[in-house]
Amino acid sequence: MTANTDQRTVLAVRDLKKHFPIKDGALQRTVGQVRAVDGVSFDLRRGETLGLVGESGCGKTTLGRVLAGLEKPTSGGVYFDLSGSQLAQLDQALRSGEGEGLAQLEGSHRVDQLDSASWRRFRRNTQMVFQDSFSSLNPRHLVSDIVGRPLRVYKEASGSELRERVVSLLEQVGLGRQHLYRYPHQFSGGQRQRISIARALALDPELVILDEPTSALDVSVQAQILNLLHELQQSRGFTFLFITHDLSVVRHMADRIAVMYLGRIVESGDTTELFNDPIHPYTEALLRANPDLTGEDEGFHGLEGTVPDPARPPQGCRFHTRCVYATPDCGWEIDDVVLQLEDTPALFDKLVGVERRSPFDADLSFTDGAASLSLASALDGNEVPASMKAAIEQVTVQNQTVSIRFRAVDEVLLTPRGTDRLASCLLDALPKR
Ligand SMILES: Nc1ncnc2c1ncn2[C@@H]1O[C@H](COP(=O)(O)OP(=O)(O)O)[C@@H](O)[C@H]1O
Ligand code: SF4
Ligand SMILES: [Mg+2]
Repeated sequence: MTANTDQRTVLAVRDLKKHFPIKDGALQRTVGQVRAVDGVSFDLRRGETLGLVGESGCGKTTLGRVLAGLEKPTSGGVYFDLSGSQLAQLDQALRSGEGEGLAQLEGSHRVDQLDSASWRRFRRNTQMVFQDSFSSLNPRHLVSDIVGRPLRVYKEASGSELRERVVSLLEQVGLGRQHLYRYPHQFSGGQRQRISIARALALDPELVILDEPTSALDVSVQAQILNLLHELQQSRGFTFLFITHDLSVVRHMADRIAVMYLGRIVESGDTTELFNDPIHPYTEALLRANPDLTGEDEGFHGLEGTVPDPARPPQGCRFHTRCVYATPDCGWEIDDVVLQLEDTPALFDKLVGVERRSPFDADLSFTDGAASLSLASALDGNEVPASMKAAIEQVTVQNQTVSIRFRAVDEVLLTPRGTDRLASCLLDALPKR
C-alpha cells in the first residue's frame, strides 16, 4: 500500500447530495425524491486506494458518477486537487459561511463550477472504469481506436507514435500488439475489462474511479484483474476509488474503507482496523454476511431484510429497521408500524389512512374498531421488536382510529472514533456475540 507522502487531496467531498425526482401522473408532477446520495463528506488523498462498500442500491454508482463529473450534484460540493492549506481554507470557509474565501477556490477547484481550463485538467485526470465492459466499449470500434481515443482527443499523439503508445498500454494490462485490430466482442469478459483499464490509464490520470470492475467476472478472472489493478496502483501511484458491494474484494487493496448505507457513509477508517474491529453494526453485518472474511460457518447471514426505500429513509439511524442491536433511541417511527402491518395482510387490508403529525406521531384509521384493537394489542405483543416497543410513548384507541406516538429523536450523525475513524452509531462499541 502506498504511504501518504504529500498533503494533496485529490477530492474533497463536502455534504454532497444527489436526489432524483420521482414523477407521477399525466402531468408528470414531482411527487418525491430518491435520495440516492444524501449528505456525504470525505477526502480522497493522493496515492491512496479508498474502498467504497455497501449493498446494491446504497448509492455507490451515483456517488461515483457525481465525483467523476458525469452528473451534477443536487447540493454540496466536490473539490478537486487541493493542497493542505487549500483544504484547510475550504473547511474554514464552509464553517464560517465566508463567501469570499469560497468563491476564490470554486472557480479552480469545485468540479461543477470549474472554468474551462480547469475542467479540461479535471476531466483528463479523472477516469472511470465501469462494471459492464460490454456496454462501455463501443462495439463498432477497434481496440486501437478505443484505447487510442483519449490520446487523440487530448492531442497527445498521432500516427505511428499513437499506435506504439496504445501497444504499450495494452502490454501494461496483459494484452499486446496482436489485439490492436480486433473488436470488443472478440474478447472474453476479463480481457474486455483489461481494455477498459488500458483506456482509463491512457492519459496517466491522477484518479481512477472503479465501479464494481470485477463483479461481472468469474472468481479466477476476478483475482487476475484485482492483481493487475493492485500492481498498476503500486507502480504508477494512482489514486483509486474502488467501489464494490463485496468487502473481500477490497481487503487487500484498499488503504481505507468507507461503508455506505442508504445514501450516507456510516463508517470509515483504516482497512485493517475496520476489518478487525468494526464499529458500526452494518459493517459487522457486511463482514458476517461474507463467511470468507470471518471464518464463520457458511450460511450464516448477518444481514437480513432489504435496503429501505431511499425516497423515505428511516428516521434516527437509517439502519434501525435491520439492526440487531437497535435501542429505543435509534429512530423507531410510524413507518415501522406500517411495515409491520404489511406483514399481516388481514389487518393491512383494513388500513384506510395514516394522518401524520410528525414521522413519530400519527393516527392510523381502519375500516372497523376490531382492527384498531388488534393493532394496539399487536404493538403490545411479541411480534414487535422489544426496542421498538420500548420507544412507544403512547397508544390510544378511539373507535376505528389508533393514535401512536414514538419518542422523537434526532438523526444519528458520523462522529470521530479514534484516529482517522468515523462511525454513526449510538453504541460506544459493538456488543459481544
Ligand atoms: N437516474 C436515476 N433516476 C432515478 N433513480 C436513480 C437513478 N440512478 C439511481 N437511482 C436510484 O438511486 C439509488 C441508488 O442507486 P445506485 O447509485 O445505482 O446504487 P448502487 O450503485 O449502490 O447499487 C437506487 O434506489 C436507484 O434506483
Ligand atoms: S444507532 Fe447503532 S445500534 Fe442504533 S440502529 Fe443504528 S446501528 Fe443499530
Ligand atoms: Mg452500482
